This record gives sequence, C-alpha cells and structure tokens, in this order.
Amino acid sequence: MQIKSLYSKNFRNLDVNIDNFSDEMNIICGENAQGKTNLLEALWLFTGAKSFRSGNESNFIKFGENKGIIKTEFISGGVKNTAKMEFSEKRTAYFNDKALQNPSKLAGKFNAVIFTPDDISIVRDGPEKRRRFLDLNIGQIFPQYIEILRDYLRAVKQRNEIIKNLRYDSTAGIMLDSFEETIAEKGEIIKDYRRKYVLLLNDNLFSIYNGLSSGREEIYLSYFEKNGEKPLIDTLIEKRKEDVFTGKTSVGPHRDDLDIRINGISARSFGSQGQKRSVALSLKLASAEVIRGKTGEYPVCLLDDVMSELDEKRQNYILNHISGWQSFITCCDEATVSRLKRGKIIEIKNGETV
Ligand SMILES: Nc1ncnc2c1ncn2[C@@H]1O[C@H](COP(=O)(O)OP(=O)(O)OP(=O)(O)O)[C@@H](O)[C@H]1O
Ligand SMILES: [Mg+2]
Repeated sequence: MQIKSLYSKNFRNLDVNIDNFSDEMNIICGENAQGKTNLLEALWLFTGAKSFRSGNESNFIKFGENKGIIKTEFISGGVKNTAKMEFSEKRTAYFNDKALQNPSKLAGKFNAVIFTPDDISIVRDGPEKRRRFLDLNIGQIFPQYIEILRDYLRAVKQRNEIIKNLRYDSTAGIMLDSFEETIAEKGEIIKDYRRKYVLLLNDNLFSIYNGLSSGREEIYLSYFEKNGEKPLIDTLIEKRKEDVFTGKTSVGPHRDDLDIRINGISARSFGSQGQKRSVALSLKLASAEVIRGKTGEYPVCLLDDVMSELDEKRQNYILNHISGWQSFITCCDEATVSRLKRGKIIEIKNGETV
C-alpha cells in the first residue's frame, strides 16, 4: 500500500497539503511539539481504528475551531482510493467519497502499523494491553471480528449488571442463561480468531526478533486462556457464585492473555528494558508481515520516535527490514536524519510543512 497525499485542515495543530511522499521512506522531522506525531496520527486514523493516543476524540479539532478535516489518496491492490474524515460534534469517515456508517468501516481498506515509544506497555503492563494489541490487529484483517467483539463485550457488561443485582434480588437471574449463551458463543469465536492469529504472528516473529537480537535470543508466543481447556459455557456456570461476589465475569476472552517468552523466560517478568522494547517493535513488524500474508501487500509503517531509543545495530536492522515498504518515521535529532539519507525529508514547523 502507498499513501500518495495527505491534506489536513484544523486537525490538531496540523495544516498541510502534501502530495509528494516517497513510496519508500519518509522522514518527518522537526523540533519538539511541531506536529510530527499529529501527522502520523492523522494517517493512522484512516485505518478506522481509534487513535493510538489516549484522550477525548473532541481533541482532534484545533483549539478554538469547531470543524476539522483530513483527506488522503492512497493506492491499494493497484487501485487509487480516497479516504476522508470530518471532525465536528461527531466523526464522519468517507471512502471514495461515500459516507460510512462509522469510521471503523474503514478497517481493511487502509492498512497501517504504528509503533510509538508507549508500545513497550504491550510487554510491560497488564494483559489488557496485549488483548488490545491482538484485537486491533485481528480487526484490521478480519473486519467482522470487530462486531463480534463488540457484541461479546456488551453481553459481558449485561451479565455483570445482572450478577451485581443478584446480591439483592434473587429473581434478577432470569436473563443470566441467555447472556451466558451469547458470551460463550461469541467468546469461543473470539478465542478461535486469537489462537489462529497468534500462530500467524509466531510464524513471522521468530526470525524478526532473532535478527533484531543479532541471533542471540529466541521468542515464542502462546495464547493463555483463563478457562483452560474447558468449554467457556461450563466455566461461566461454574463461576457464577464467585462472580456474584465480585460483581465481575471472571472467565472469557476479556480475561485471557498473550504469554511472551524469550529463551523460555517470561518477557514481562524478567525482560530488560531493551528486550521489552525490541519485543514490542518485533510484534509490530510481525503484525505487518501477517497483513501482507493476507492482503498480498505491506501495510504502511508508521514509526514514532523509535530511532532515538535503539542502538545503531538495531536501527539498521529495522531500516533494512522495512526497506521496500512505505514508511513514515518521525525524528527530531539531526544526526539520525543525516544517517537516513535514503528517505524523503519532510520538515514540520508549527503544524505546517517548511
Ligand atoms: N486540538 C489541538 N489543537 C491545537 N493544537 C493541538 C491540539 N492537540 C494537540 N495540539 C498541539 O500540537 C502540538 C504538536 O504535537 P505533536 O505531538 O505532533 O508534536 P511532535 O512534533 O511530535 O513533538 P515531539 O518531538 O515532542 O514528539 C503540541 O504542542 C500540542 O499541544
Ligand atoms: Mg512526537
């Protein structure tokens, strides 16, 4: 996939009209707080996913304005497409000038992977971050997954409300069976997608991580299921009493995890800072390989502030690995910019190109 242009007006501090991106490396450079990450964020939103930044959606519009817009032209599957997003009280996405029901309908049409320094949290933090990583990626290649996940999470929320009420009202359990059936049905489908996705990731991850660690380390992922080998429906019924006490549903894919091991040892518990960062980056690169396996082309690679965090060997490995696919790398350090001679340099100052 290649992005040909980006137009932005009142999207955060970004006002640009760029139509000469390189099909390979684009280096977005500039001083701190000029709008480099905002540019990557604008591109990322065309995937239909939520922003990689936390915060309220209304923050997308430039302070003091009430409307913002971003537009792009891109080539995918040899065909030129356009995508547009308008921000006002709500966000409206368009694909080839047709309004979509919601922005997530862009999933699968525009493919990108993003790496930010915060992604180390995938390895370091609790299971929620790893589940989110899986869900985001699965949703990009199987858009139908997003709806299944939404239905599942809704049913879990409803079960949680019922079991909380059960403490005071024993008749509240009437609807429990039906919600548990939905949780089990959708939950088994989600688990199946995730198991298969982890296998696909493993196929690609091993060589990437091994290369990044100069052949010294081996990585292996496995999908950890809270309900073990038992069918989800049985465990849900079994856990009812306990769940009424806590007010939460204790089993199901919303409690599962991704176990990451380096040379057989848990990366989360024992990995060094550099290992965790390398794992996070390798996971992203492997997810791009999976997308390529499914769609036949590489997604666009968005790397925010990664170069400053890696030693030169690792920087070079990454640059070699992504050569041949379109990438956007932000960077505020002159020395790194001058080493990345192959790319097109786009300088951003005060939200505009220089
Ligand atoms: N809604 C908004 N309206 C106007 N400006 C905003 C809005 N949201 C964020 N900004 C501003 O955009 C500026 C640029 O942010 P951005 O994160 O893109 O900087 P950056 O160039 O990536 O900097 P760094 O090198 O520090 O990462 C920040 O000063 C931020 O306050
Ligand atoms: Mg930034």
